Amino acid sequence: MNTVYGVYGDPIAHSLSPNMHNAAFRELGMESTYQAFRVSSENLKDALLGAKAMGFGGVNLTVPLKQEALGIVDADPLAESIGAINTVDFKDGMIGYNTDGIGAKRAIEEQEIKIKGSKVLIVGAGGAARAIAFQFARDGANITIANRTEQKALDLSMEVSSVGLATGCGIDCIKDMIADSDILVNCTTLGMKPNPEGTIATAEDMHPDLTVFDIVYNPLETRLLKETKKAGAKAITGEMMLVYQGAEAFRIWTGVEPPIEVMKQAVLEGLGI
Ligand code: ATR
Repeated sequence: MNTVYGVYGDPIAHSLSPNMHNAAFRELGMESTYQAFRVSSENLKDALLGAKAMGFGGVNLTVPLKQEALGIVDADPLAESIGAINTVDFKDGMIGYNTDGIGAKRAIEEQEIKIKGSKVLIVGAGGAARAIAFQFARDGANITIANRTEQKALDLSMEVSSVGLATGCGIDCIKDMIADSDILVNCTTLGMKPNPEGTIATAEDMHPDLTVFDIVYNPLETRLLKETKKAGAKAITGEMMLVYQGAEAFRIWTGVEPPIEVMKQAVLEGLGI
């Protein structure tokens, strides 16, 4: 049966999710399709109810719909605490999940780096930082959140403290905190095109036992990751978070183990790499 899946957002034209999911369906011989739909916040409820009524398998949500969806679907506890939904499953009502944090967790763990018991410095306090901070704190990491607007880091760390260990500080604590961290995650837009020279840290701030994960994947090798290699530390590129958050949604919808390598290749092709 041809089950339809999709991603809703606005803008949505450049989403790589259709490439990734359609490649997975082809690889597994599943007759399902995945398409991008431009949906505004005011139309989200209708679009979700319509998709459910038409027998869609599920949808992903992206900017600006992730928070909006909380008032429409039943959020699972993790999505509820993150305050954002990126995956809706229609099997049993409309259940909302957030797979962004688990995407980051898998991207790091596939490199044989443990989250549990690690000291993790997250820079940024926006949507991506929230998802990663709640997931990693739940998984037993000791989190520090550093942000340009310090108050946002303090507020987020207070919230995250309800599920695990978290403290917050301003951006000027980054240097000292890196020295004491096992994993550094960049959740800011620094280094993203069209400003690829931006970076939250340079090689002199890092140590060889550090793992650096940059969620920016445009460009794939950001200035931060170039600095990481210069310092002899381990660099993890951002496209794997995209791949693994999609893989987790795929698993929730279909119950089938997703073909990670095929999904990764589809994303890299979509990025022109
Ligand atoms: P997302 O939802 O992708 O996480 P976001 O909510 O726009 O994106 O968050 C962007 C993050 O990048 C914020 O933490 C922002 O810091 P502020 O809260 O102080 O705005 C951070 N950021 C953006 N530009 C930055 C810059 N030039 N220097 C430092 N941090 C920056």
